[in-house]
Amino acid sequence: MNIVLIGFMGSGKTSVGRKLAEKLQYEYVDMDPLIEQKVGMTVGEIFRKKGEKKFRKLEKEILEKLVQQKNIVVSTGGGVPCQPGNMKLINKNCISIYLQMDAIALFERLKPRQARRPLIRDLSEKELKQFINTTLAKREKYYLKAKFIVDGSKRNENEILRLLEA
Ligand code: S3P
Repeated sequence: MNIVLIGFMGSGKTSVGRKLAEKLQYEYVDMDPLIEQKVGMTVGEIFRKKGEKKFRKLEKEILEKLVQQKNIVVSTGGGVPCQPGNMKLINKNCISIYLQMDAIALFERLKPRQARRPLIRDLSEKELKQFINTTLAKREKYYLKAKFIVDGSKRNENEILRLLEA
């Protein structure tokens, strides 16, 4: 069975995913680097040169292949669950876990990590706060389709891992 971590940018999918895979002795797969390898461009370049629509298409193609594999932990990009059909595909084939984080915690985590994320890289602090609030409000209904929900706002990675092991 595969485990798929979903959640907003900056919610800790990569670091939790890596550790979870290590514990379970599963292979760890991060979707963004996989797309970058496939296209030979960074996520930022794909957005700039090919557009977001193409990026979303690439995400879907990669997701369709990943869900057919066995015993992998996948960290998805924050937009993956919000594209038509993706949560259905994930939940049909995998155990999905939503790493839930409130807007304040996300802002603190994303502020120093804007550069490699095309959707937020050029935003001022005020704009970043607004972006997180409005985008989280739009996306959460998709994230909440996950089979398990872990509140990560006030927990560190190790505490989240312990919860997942329980
Ligand atoms: C995106 C999240 C990013 C990346 C791209 C778009 C999004 O992944 O896929 O910049 O739409 O939320 P992370 O969630 O790993 O930052």
